[in-house]
Amino acid sequence: MNSESMGNTLNYANKVILAPMVRIGTLPNRLLALHYGADIVYGEELIDYKMLQCKRVENDILNTVDFVLENGQPVFRTCAKEKDKLVFQMGTSDPQRALQVAKLVEKDVAGIDVNMGCPKEFSIKGGMGAALLTKPDKIKDILTTLVNGVSKPVTCKIRILPKVEETIALAKLIQSTGVAAVAVHGRLREERPRHHVNCDIIKAVAESLSIPVIANGGSDEYLNCYEDIEKFKLLTGSSSVMIAREAQWNMSIFRKDGLLPEDDICKAYLKYAVDYDNPYTNSKYCLQQVLHKNMESSQGHALRRAESAKDVCAIWGMEEYWQEVQSKQQRSKEYFER
Ligand code: FNR
Repeated sequence: MNSESMGNTLNYANKVILAPMVRIGTLPNRLLALHYGADIVYGEELIDYKMLQCKRVENDILNTVDFVLENGQPVFRTCAKEKDKLVFQMGTSDPQRALQVAKLVEKDVAGIDVNMGCPKEFSIKGGMGAALLTKPDKIKDILTTLVNGVSKPVTCKIRILPKVEETIALAKLIQSTGVAAVAVHGRLREERPRHHVNCDIIKAVAESLSIPVIANGGSDEYLNCYEDIEKFKLLTGSSSVMIAREAQWNMSIFRKDGLLPEDDICKAYLKYAVDYDNPYTNSKYCLQQVLHKNMESSQGHALRRAESAKDVCAIWGMEEYWQEVQSKQQRSKEYFER
């Protein structure tokens, strides 16, 4: 369905958005971002092939919808709280696989996104991510198939090309497929986060399109607190702003009333991680990013040593909370198994 013909759907204009981030953009962090004020949250990139091995399961114990592999391992977990704000991002190089994945998750998410910016070898070799940037016909095929085939708005996230005119031409081609918005990471495929983000090219794209442009790439250099979001938006002439690294370090960047201390972030994060039975290895990784500059503190050392969810919770004095939720989940499990 063309996004313009849809009524009550996700609108990407004038929004502050949690960027897709592998391992970081899992359910607890997405809920935390929404809690602090993000308008839209993107999930981590999930590869089409892997998603197509999953089946959809309603998890009555956690009140979640899980997409699980045959061995029972959840690949993607979501819940009703984020349903209207969640964008599912996939890595794909094929229109039909992309459509199958979109159909699989369609009723549990608010939007579908295609990653066209990932520069990692794994993506490029598979013809995914930034490999798509030089394949306009493939881009057109994938996006048109999705726009025509799913009932939710479709977007994509690109990087800039070496020349401004090329980037504008690519963005116009993307717009012509009927997508609802496009996220532009203002760096070239070969550039790393230490390189300057090119705000001028994002701005030129934003001025050339009629759909919302979501500016991305400003963490650290331009985005350090909530007030910076509006400044970055003005600087890039964009409708919306998408934040990655600054959010992985401190999710309260989305909070109008200002940044919160690291300890508060860790506790709030852990509450969601416990409630939704997040794998402790993933929680550990996410918390390490919050402590990033303080990994040599006693908490950092304890986090490195942690070997279970209970160990991780104990670092922030949340062992009791963990125990309580575990017992509750166990009782529900017994109830559903009766
Ligand atoms: C990313 N990025 C990324 N991009 C994407 O489209 N899909 C993904 O799954 C990921 N994964 C990912 C993981 C981690 C840990 C980081 C730091 C980044 C890129 C990200 O969305 C964003 O484009 C860049 O980080 C630039 O934005 P910031 O960090 O300057 O706000």
